Amino acid sequence: MSVPPIDYLFNRRSVKFVQAPGPTDEHLSQILQAGMSAPDHGRLRPWRFTLIRGDAVQRWADFAIGAIKRAGLPLTTQKEASTRDWLSKVPLLVALACRMDSSNTKIPEDERLLATGAAVTNMLNAAHMLGYGAYWSTGLGTYVDEVHDALDYDALEYRFMGYLAIGTPIAPSDPIERPDYRDFVKEWTGL
Ligand SMILES: Cc1cc2nc3c(=O)[nH]c(=O)nc-3n(C[C@H](O)[C@H](O)[C@H](O)COP(=O)(O)O)c2cc1C
Repeated sequence: MSVPPIDYLFNRRSVKFVQAPGPTDEHLSQILQAGMSAPDHGRLRPWRFTLIRGDAVQRWADFAIGAIKRAGLPLTTQKEASTRDWLSKVPLLVALACRMDSSNTKIPEDERLLATGAAVTNMLNAAHMLGYGAYWSTGLGTYVDEVHDALDYDALEYRFMGYLAIGTPIAPSDPIERPDYRDFVKEWTGL
């Protein structure tokens, strides 16, 4: 019996620990294309993505961990080991950036970030719908200039927004309890 599409949204949860195989070429195209359906004021298409796949994930992990240390940020031996252990199995990282385009003064800059976040959310949902595990992380040097430069996302023009890790879940996820929307919604009944 097929799953009603809305149930995919209800059931999505982040899956950090993934392994190969990563998305097939066709599925990766679908995941990235899902990002293109995000709401986007002014059709600015601010989202930018860089694929880091296979062996390149390990090389990127080495570089980014080095960059964190060179920036003088705290990184305990334990955190480094757990990060390396996690990434040793991840088959695909999608590095996420938003082009800020300060020449556009009509649409507030915050809206570019929101559109990029919406694109990434679409990609998380698409990965989930296709049976992959996916997880948004702002670790691995997300706020380190050397990392931005290495990806050609110069901080003057882009805001780096972290990574999506996508692959095959290593273990099945337990169902997760979500909050009741009523706790977050009120009704305006007029002045
Ligand atoms: C922009 C953004 C950045 C995130 N960065 C991290 C991170 O660096 N480390 C972390 O443990 N969780 C991070 N998270 C949270 C996880 O991606 C995930 O949402 C969280 O574990 C809850 O799981 P859920 O999505 O199934 O509710 C981030 C989430 C967002 C939206």
